[in-house]
Amino acid sequence: MAYKSITLTDSNPGDYFYDEAMKTLRTNVQFSGKNNKVILLTSGHGNEGKSDISFNLAVELGKAGKKVLLIDADIRKSVYKERYNIQEETKGLSQYLSGQVEQIDEVVCKTNYENVYMILAGPYAPNPTEMLGDELFGQLLKAAKQVFQYVIIDTPPLGIVVDAAVIGQYCDGAIIVVEKDSTSYRLCQKVKTQLEKSGCKILGAVLNKVNHGGKGYYGGKYGRYSKYGKYGEYGSGYINPEKK
Ligand SMILES: Nc1ncnc2c1ncn2[C@@H]1O[C@H](COP(=O)(O)OP(=O)(O)OP(=O)(O)O)[C@@H](O)[C@H]1O
Ligand SMILES: [Mg+2]
Repeated sequence: MAYKSITLTDSNPGDYFYDEAMKTLRTNVQFSGKNNKVILLTSGHGNEGKSDISFNLAVELGKAGKKVLLIDADIRKSVYKERYNIQEETKGLSQYLSGQVEQIDEVVCKTNYENVYMILAGPYAPNPTEMLGDELFGQLLKAAKQVFQYVIIDTPPLGIVVDAAVIGQYCDGAIIVVEKDSTSYRLCQKVKTQLEKSGCKILGAVLNKVNHGGKGYYGGKYGRYSKYGKYGEYGSGYINPEKK
């Protein structure tokens, strides 16, 4: 069955340094291990940049010739339709997980980005955690792994709702997005512990919204990113993919 096509319009073109940081993220994901194919992104609290990074990571992997499925698992507060001005009517994840749509192919959409496919969140559902924890979601991911080289899953913040940990049981690894100067060490620890409890290993973290003009931030362990120069508002760095 042919996938439905959707067109995404990215009104935020990013900048050179952001793009370079995304390439680094993509490379680090690729080198994190050949079995790390189903990867979720989460964070401690809202607005740290998970959805932006999920999308851009999928696009970068696609550009590198990898067939990627981006799943919007934020059934509570999906942003993709509006943010990327998606006009087509589609069926989404919530409809599949609630049994309203039976075939996976009916929820997978081909995008206008090379090698990038998407499952949109679908309409709001009152019980996302239960839906996402259902074995049906595990089966969907298993099937997706047969067809796609990477599956990137955008989730809600784990410091607020437990969905990402529930999804984590079906994933090969997780990336934690951390907004600079916004998330406490304690909250990051909590997110890490919760993911590990669900059996999901941590591939690494993205430090997002870095203003490289800030004083001395790139000293110490983040020093290696300084070679990218000024990130401006859209800076992102990927920290040590191997380290737990
Ligand atoms: N590196 C960045 N620099 C500046 N602004 C950014 C950056 N990344 C994302 N943003 C902006 O921050 C806001 C939140 O981004 P996004 O929706 O990706 O976060 P999120 O973590 O998915 O949020 P939520 O928890 O609500 O799902 C958006 O307005 C986005 O454009
Ligand atoms: Mg989001």
